[in-house]
Amino acid sequence: MFSASEGNFYLSGNFAPVEQEISAAQLPVTGSLPRDLNGRYIRIGPNPRGDVDPATYHWFTGPGMVHGIRLRDGRAEWYRSRFVEGSDGVLNTEKHAAPNTNVIAHGGRILTLIESGTPPAELDPEFAGTTVLAEDEAFGSGFTAHPKLDPATGELHAVTFSITQGTARYVVLDPEGRTKHTTDIDVDDNPMLHDMALTETRAIVLDLPVTLAAAIRCMEAGEPVSTLPMIWDEQHPARVGVLPIGGTSDQINWVEVPRCYVFHILNAFDNPDGSFTLDVVRYDELFLRDMLGPGGSVPTLVRWTVNPATGKTSEDVICDYSVEFPRIDGRLTGRPHRYGWFAGYGAGGIEITDDVERAHTRDGFETGPLVKVDTVLGVTQLHDYGPGRVTMEPAFVPRSDSTSEQDDGWILSVVHDGNVNRAELVVLDAADITAAPVARVHLPARIPFGFHGNWIDDRELGL
Ligand SMILES: [Fe+2]
Repeated sequence: MFSASEGNFYLSGNFAPVEQEISAAQLPVTGSLPRDLNGRYIRIGPNPRGDVDPATYHWFTGPGMVHGIRLRDGRAEWYRSRFVEGSDGVLNTEKHAAPNTNVIAHGGRILTLIESGTPPAELDPEFAGTTVLAEDEAFGSGFTAHPKLDPATGELHAVTFSITQGTARYVVLDPEGRTKHTTDIDVDDNPMLHDMALTETRAIVLDLPVTLAAAIRCMEAGEPVSTLPMIWDEQHPARVGVLPIGGTSDQINWVEVPRCYVFHILNAFDNPDGSFTLDVVRYDELFLRDMLGPGGSVPTLVRWTVNPATGKTSEDVICDYSVEFPRIDGRLTGRPHRYGWFAGYGAGGIEITDDVERAHTRDGFETGPLVKVDTVLGVTQLHDYGPGRVTMEPAFVPRSDSTSEQDDGWILSVVHDGNVNRAELVVLDAADITAAPVARVHLPARIPFGFHGNWIDDRELGL
């Protein structure tokens, strides 16, 4: 693990916070921005303010900062960064986490999200400010960083948990953002439920061995715990809960899966034989050796085939490189997909056949190239952004509503350029990622390695 005596990895380099909110207009562009991109690319991550204790600071717990790039008619009109109001970044019984993890649009609102009990904040489209949505019925006991939009209905599905209340729920919001359905999920030990999956017929809960209960046992033994009180739990099962879309807790069917942790799901879909496919990025362990962040094992893209009828799960590695931040065309959520795009690890990519200890080095833990996986042909491609330049999470934007090819569109991502210590928004052709970028928007500042970023089209906000 990265111990306190070495300093805190997650407060150094481009993990370190920035100090100021920035506004800049008329950004320089290399290449040609597609004129169809009318909206905002928004990233979010933790950005601690003031003094933090490097011995216990956990990467996941800093207050949120959003970074937005406004594109319209082939121009990059502005870059703005703002702290998310209501963030305190301090673990306490009232408000123990900041909405610092994901940013989406739903029901015409831009929402910044986190799991574990803090409600979302609404972000003004012009970045004029943020408002915590504590009074919304849907968000009273917190929400999740990774709800899933069902493309068939426009409904938003979420598996939420509250670390203080010890509750877990399956929640469905209607297309306007109103609560349509809730049901409690019975799980032990207060597990970290980061992502969930949908198929056309099922909602899927990941109940994996990172828990509050393990951290409490650790504290009771007098051992130090980070600002995120959730750690690897040798006593907790690894299983997925399967229930019908819109179903209730008594319908959940639990199926054992390989012992691991999963933050992120690429996608899931039903198979004709009654099983379902679940493509996930798995960690052999988490918060066991690296207690301050996810640096302890090699993130690996695997395909699980889960059969609720037999209770069996099989696993196959489906990417040559270590990857995180998996993304598909969102219109295929819950349906069979061919392609996935990812942030790869390591400067030139870490092949997962390499000595796994390599991924425990600091250089190996930082992201590097964009990775595209063709899950049908089993082909992996990389886009290398150049020496000292690494991508954060990609987002796929379809070229038009009528697009039929599954990779006909663009990949947008923020790239950190360590040579000049600034960020760019880079646009690639999603069908031809090895080609030179379509466009590079030059930003006036760096954007710290954060968590998630999304393209929010003007039409999603009714603009
Ligand atoms: Fe996430």
